[in-house]
Amino acid sequence: MRLVILGSGRGSNAEAILAAQREGRLGRAEVVQIFADQPAAGILGLGPRFGVPAAFLDPAPFKTKLDGEGEQRYIAAIQASQPDLVVLAGFMRVIKPAFLSAFAGKIINLHPSLLPSFPGLDGIGQAWRRGVKVAGCTVHYVTAEIDGGPIIDQAVVRIEASDTPESFAQKIHAAEHALLPAVIARLSQSAASHA
Ligand code: GAR
Repeated sequence: MRLVILGSGRGSNAEAILAAQREGRLGRAEVVQIFADQPAAGILGLGPRFGVPAAFLDPAPFKTKLDGEGEQRYIAAIQASQPDLVVLAGFMRVIKPAFLSAFAGKIINLHPSLLPSFPGLDGIGQAWRRGVKVAGCTVHYVTAEIDGGPIIDQAVVRIEASDTPESFAQKIHAAEHALLPAVIARLSQSAASHA
């Protein structure tokens, strides 16, 4: 199963995927390409470290969505990698219909809350400010509804009285780093058994 990872930030979840692959915990999945929509994104540094092509791909002209010329650039570049799965690992852009239909049923997203609670931006901050005692993260298929596609799996984090915003965020990230590679491994095994 060929994976293309898209990200915008530091890339700790892409790193967790690549580490799982290196340690033989990613099933039949293999990362073949990383793209970032920010030229200075930390995620691009993973390319040389893990021997995977990693490149900035210009998302212009829009700031918060992937549409128009930028969307066409992404579709063409990703199609050239012949992915079986496109993984949004901290890719902070709204995905539009042309991209969705180019990779229909093959796009998954990681979100830092227990969806359907706290969709959209800053899922961690939203949960913290709401004062929930049980939080977590979600991997779901991407559809036209933001953070609304079918849920594949979730991991739960409990908030203790001693937690701070920082310790809470760390717990969420640790849960994400375990969940996302495990989901990919499982998807790759079930794809292989249906092949
Ligand atoms: C992760 O917490 C992920 O859940 C979140 O961005 C972070 C990326 O971190 N994604 C979203 O909020 C998507 N709406 P990373 O760059 O270290 O993997």
